[in-house]
This record gives sequence, C-alpha cells and structure tokens, in this order.
Amino acid sequence: MSVKTAIVTGAAAGIGAACAKRLASDGMAVGVLDLDEERCADTVAAIKAAGGIAMALGADVSNREQVFAAVAKLRAELGPVTVLVNNAGVTDFTKFEDIEDDRWDFVFAVNVRGPMLMVQAVIEDMKSAHWGRIVNISSSSAQTGAIGMVTYSSSKGAVVTMTRSMAQEFGPYGITVNNIPPGSVMGTIMSEANRDRFQIPTEVLLSTIPVRRLGEVNDIAHGCSYLCSEGASYVTGQTLGVNGGRVVS
Ligand SMILES: NC(=O)c1ccc[n+]([C@@H]2O[C@H](COP(=O)([O-])OP(=O)(O)OC[C@H]3O[C@@H](n4cnc5c(N)ncnc54)[C@H](O)[C@@H]3O)[C@@H](O)[C@H]2O)c1
Repeated sequence: MSVKTAIVTGAAAGIGAACAKRLASDGMAVGVLDLDEERCADTVAAIKAAGGIAMALGADVSNREQVFAAVAKLRAELGPVTVLVNNAGVTDFTKFEDIEDDRWDFVFAVNVRGPMLMVQAVIEDMKSAHWGRIVNISSSSAQTGAIGMVTYSSSKGAVVTMTRSMAQEFGPYGITVNNIPPGSVMGTIMSEANRDRFQIPTEVLLSTIPVRRLGEVNDIAHGCSYLCSEGASYVTGQTLGVNGGRVVS
C-alpha cells in the first residue's frame, strides 16, 4: 500500500503536534505546518525518531500565497496531499462591547479563512485521487456559546458549518469532511490561557464531564486518526465530540 501524505496545521505544539505524530504512527508522511519552520522542529524530530516521515513547513494559514507555497513544497517532496487536519487556531477573550474590527477580522482570518485556504490548496490532489480526508478542529464553544468569547466561538461555529457544506460538496469525490470540537484539553498554550482567564476550579470543571477527567491531546489525536482512516469512509459532515461525554447541546 502506498504511503499517504498528510498535512497538519498548527502542528508545532498542543493538539496539532499530537495529531501529526499520531498520523505518522498510522503510516502517513506528514507535513508539519506552523507559523515558521523552526517551531516545527520538535514535532518533526519526534516523528523521525519514531521511524516516521515528516517535513517542516512554515506558513501563516491566513495567507493565501504562503499556504499554496507550503503545500506545493510538501507535494514536490512527498507527493499529493490527501489528508488535511485544520488545527491552527487563535483564541480571543473580549467583552462583547469591546470587540474591535481588527481583532474580529484577525480571528476569522486564522480560524475560518485559514481552513478554507488550506482546503483550496489540497482539494485537487484529493479529487484526482478520488479519496481524501479533511478534519477540522472546531471548539465546544461553538456548541455551547461562551461568555466573553463571542468572536472566537462564532469563528468556530463557522468551522462547524463549513464542515457540513464541504462534506456535501466533496462527498461525490470520495472525500470526507468532519470536525472535532475539543472541550477542555489540558496542557496546551491555549488551554492554559483559558484556565488563567476563567479560573474555574478543577473539581467544578470535572463535575460537568461524565468520565471525570480533563481531556488530553492524544484523546483528540485518536479521534483524528479514526476520521482519517479507511474505515471512516461512510462518516462525513459530522461533529465527533471527543469531550468525555460532556452534554453540549
Ligand atoms: N486546548 C483546548 O482545550 C481547545 C479547546 C477547544 C478548541 N481548541 C482548538 O484546537 C486547536 C489547537 O488548540 P491548542 O490548544 O493545541 O492550541 P495552541 O495555542 O497550543 O496551538 C496552536 C498552534 O497553532 C499555531 N498557529 C496559530 N496561528 C497560526 C497561523 N496563522 N498559521 C499557522 N499556525 C498558526 C500556533 O503557533 C500553535 O503552534 C485550535 O484550533 C483551538 O481553537 C482547543
């Protein structure tokens, strides 16, 4: 069986790094994309140390030229890209009355335009292969809403809707599109920022999670691995809640 080439955005750290390592251990060659190549070094080294294939790619996902250049570089080195994990994202905590246009546009540029550009850059490879897997990392805040996070949660709501629409558009080409909305995944830069901001005691957080533990990056990576597998070919347009059973809506 030939090696599939995947690209994971925001893969220098956190959930993206875990997804990149997991797809590599599943046998894929992985483009590890983040804002600059140097940031990707640890993830690439970990994949190579485990016997996998990885390539560092520097690009801002909101920048069309950078996205297309990064994908072209990966394609030239490791072949057509048929697996995409749109994980790169930025958060925002702004009281509704204080939301400014520039910040709103920045968050939407990274969280919404970013995944759209990434899909545009890889979609012809997937259509040619008549096979593709796209996983968008959204957020449980898109399902529940979140105080002081109207900008962020709205952008992630767009990711959920984008997932459904793309699934309908690309289904006839053998391409599936799904999303995972993480809840409380600990130990990432973003989750630590959330924790500092909201100061919710751990026992209160745990009381809302039936399995009574916080999420780990590998929980999301397992879900991602499933959605990118052959076996998930009949699953598309879905929201896979990897959240310990938290009731979200
Ligand atoms: N951690 C959680 O609890 C949680 C909860 C809900 C949703 N999420 C979502 O999961 C994803 C990953 O979250 P995380 O906690 O690992 O975050 P993180 O902040 O730890 O990592 C995000 C990565 O994305 C990269 N990135 C940011 N902007 C970029 C850009 N414009 N171009 C390329 N790369 C960029 C960063 O450099 C970083 O390496 C995000 O989309 C986030 O919204 C996380």
